[in-house]
Amino acid sequence: MSLSYPVTALDFRRLAQKRLPGFLFDYIDGGASDESTMRANVDDFAHVKLRQRVLVDVSKIDTAATLAGVACSMPLALAPIGLAGMMACRGEANAARVAKSAGIPFTLSTVGVCGFDEVRDAAATPPWFQLYMLRDRGVVEALLDRVWAQGCRTLVFTIDLPLPGARHRDTRHGLGAHGFRATLLKNMQVLAHLEWVWRVAIRGRPLQFGNLAGHVPDANDFNALRSWIDTQFDASVTWRDIEWLRGRWHGKLLLKGILDVDDARAAVDTGADGIIVSNHGGRQLDSVASTISKLPHVVQAVGPDTEVLLDGGVHTGVDIFKALALGARGVLIGRAWAWAMAGAGSAGLRTLLATLQRELALTMTFAGVTRIADIKATHLDRD
Ligand code: GLV
Repeated sequence: MSLSYPVTALDFRRLAQKRLPGFLFDYIDGGASDESTMRANVDDFAHVKLRQRVLVDVSKIDTAATLAGVACSMPLALAPIGLAGMMACRGEANAARVAKSAGIPFTLSTVGVCGFDEVRDAAATPPWFQLYMLRDRGVVEALLDRVWAQGCRTLVFTIDLPLPGARHRDTRHGLGAHGFRATLLKNMQVLAHLEWVWRVAIRGRPLQFGNLAGHVPDANDFNALRSWIDTQFDASVTWRDIEWLRGRWHGKLLLKGILDVDDARAAVDTGADGIIVSNHGGRQLDSVASTISKLPHVVQAVGPDTEVLLDGGVHTGVDIFKALALGARGVLIGRAWAWAMAGAGSAGLRTLLATLQRELALTMTFAGVTRIADIKATHLDRD
């Protein structure tokens, strides 16, 4: 064993791969089809070049930013991740606590293990809440009312999931399959990770879908719940449903899953406060463009009044700077925070967020810009 400190998102990915049963690691890590969009999200960041500037007074760097009206220590939020409580003990509540102490927003997934109230109490602040349009609109309304009553004022509404994408890694692991072979496969992976069993499956109980308790037959039975969720994807959702949602939700509404300029304009027309340029981490339609390559077009299409955020492929503080230079107000990380929590728990996530902030501050230093609001396209090297 080599002795070293994990620092970056990819360091934590390696740790997560060792600690998680294979089907859980691949659920988080994988993408759709050939995973070419998932790779492009990362690779295209590397193709964006920055200008190195010298002899600018960079003695005071300030990474503070405002996201969805909330003051943050840096322009970064944690994206919704389903089942994060299977990756780490009470994963959502603990990650929200770390996010709060780092001064950034946490987004709770509808299908998180921890419910909204547990996460809010752990972090002593209401998280952002992510929701899909479920076929049962009564459940949608009940969830909106419940999180509003618990202090939520920012809704992240996922619009790129009429159905889940073709996640071949999940299929190979028998996720969603029933019967002896599928059970044996998962049990073998679990038995090979007894440390995970103790740390997460036992100490992290109850493993249930906390937000859905009371809405579904048995929120403790993952198989029953999975079958229920499969019946709840609503492929008939259109912009009219988003108009309905806009009329129903009086807090900030961020629409997550926009990649196309026409959709971005439609989002503005429905009255969304912000959009999240996203291809769902390459987990939906493979062969669509990377988010960083679409970002400038979307920013231009929506104009200055709509807050544009981005997720997909953000691994470093340099990436955050690049997204801002291309017009984003901020970014979200998804896999990276799940890797950190799975690989090294809350301490891991604290380290990762510190790394990102330090790297962002250093990038600003070497690019000769001291305030987030001053990061512009002029910092890009377009030669
Ligand atoms: C759900 O949103 C997923 O990507 O698995």
